[in-house]
Amino acid sequence: MKIQIKLPILHKQLLYFEHALRRNYSTEHGTIPHKILKRMDAWQIHEYCSEVQLTNTRTPIINSPNDVLIKVEAASVNPLDVAMSNGYGSEMIGFLRKIRTGSELPLTLGRDFSGKVISKGFSPCKSKELQVGQQVWGVVPVHLQGSHAETVLVPNAVVAPQPSNLNPVEATSLMYAGVTAWSALYIFGGLLFRSIQGRRALVLGASGGVGSIAVQLLKAENAVVFASCSTDAIPFVQTLGADVVYNYNDPDYVEIVKSNGPYDIILDAAGLGPEDYLKNNWNCNAYVTLTIPLLKNGDQYGIFGGLLSSATQFVLPNLKAVSQGSTIRWALFQPLPQAIEHIGKLVSNGKLIPTVSEVYGFNDLQKAYERVGSGHLRGKVVIDMLKQSDGLTPVKGEREENTKEEGQ
Ligand SMILES: NC(=O)c1ccc[n+]([C@@H]2O[C@H](COP(=O)([O-])OP(=O)(O)OC[C@H]3O[C@@H](n4cnc5c(N)ncnc54)[C@H](OP(=O)(O)O)[C@@H]3O)[C@@H](O)[C@H]2O)c1
Repeated sequence: MKIQIKLPILHKQLLYFEHALRRNYSTEHGTIPHKILKRMDAWQIHEYCSEVQLTNTRTPIINSPNDVLIKVEAASVNPLDVAMSNGYGSEMIGFLRKIRTGSELPLTLGRDFSGKVISKGFSPCKSKELQVGQQVWGVVPVHLQGSHAETVLVPNAVVAPQPSNLNPVEATSLMYAGVTAWSALYIFGGLLFRSIQGRRALVLGASGGVGSIAVQLLKAENAVVFASCSTDAIPFVQTLGADVVYNYNDPDYVEIVKSNGPYDIILDAAGLGPEDYLKNNWNCNAYVTLTIPLLKNGDQYGIFGGLLSSATQFVLPNLKAVSQGSTIRWALFQPLPQAIEHIGKLVSNGKLIPTVSEVYGFNDLQKAYERVGSGHLRGKVVIDMLKQSDGLTPVKGEREENTKEEGQ
């Protein structure tokens, strides 16, 4: 009986000491502004299929020696953010987030950032490279809380010093879309292991966030780049360096693309998918698509059922493709340091230029989501955190109302 009464007290004391230790020994304490240490404003969803809400919530704290806390200065808005706010990936990504952070909701979206290091863990490998106060850029893995907030906590592997020739808005416009384009081409398209110099590559959706960067990555490798977009985007895609630009509104588009083949690689950054590719009968070695049904299947059939139906949807079209001498590859955003480094080098050499289509203030995030949701973008939509305007009162984080704030 005596032990039963004392255990909760002991547990509380252990938690207190654990937090004290984290504060004092895993971060460069004393460098964090008081206001930022305690609470921050973040755009969150509190349930799926609801509008993002400006929420006053707890600032994340360093939990591991590899963590870096960033003061966000700019973050891009991607179709994925809008889709996730509508419940896309809630089964699979939600499951991962629950394991990693202990809770699924509320969820802060935003998959990249440009900002300054506020605080960092004492990781031996990267601690020299990243300094408190340094201007950095990076991406946020999909299962972690995002960057549409005043601060974001990320592993140091996905943070790097930002090239000095970019401002925060330009920098973040290249991050999530750039790392996705790099993942699709270099990992799933295999360019890490072979050269595409002088070979023919076709980018579908070249006017979009991912496609416009993919064209530039391929031109930097001296590939012969074919690109597709709609009529009004042709001049924009030409300025990216595409050698041949196809107009997908042209009634003869499918035939023209086919007659110019074969292609070494086709990157589908247009949201089309393997069915379209097989129907069009375009000739290529590798068709790499960013439109994959994995998360959608997970939402529909649960994690196990989703994996099973995705396996079928992967194998069957591939059987047909292989019989035609091609392969269909599903590409996923990979938050890898090599991708950030590659993009940084190209930016510094002037071989990759940002294409920002619209900039919104932090308080106008809902408008930015609407804009991205309506599509037909030419480059990226970016949130500029320094462009805050008055008039919005953040709601208090639901799950925290009864929780005593840490550090109070
Ligand atoms: N698997 C992953 O990890 C991952 C990661 C990021 C993105 N994605 C997916 O990749 C795709 C591209 O993302 P994003 O951020 O670049 O989207 P985005 O900015 O909306 O770009 C899509 C572009 O595709 C163009 N397009 C539409 N239909 C086309 C067609 N039939 N032929 C040629 N171009 C066409 C659109 O041009 P118009 O305006 O003229 O229609 C638009 O510019 C999206 O489907 C997204 O969901 C997947």
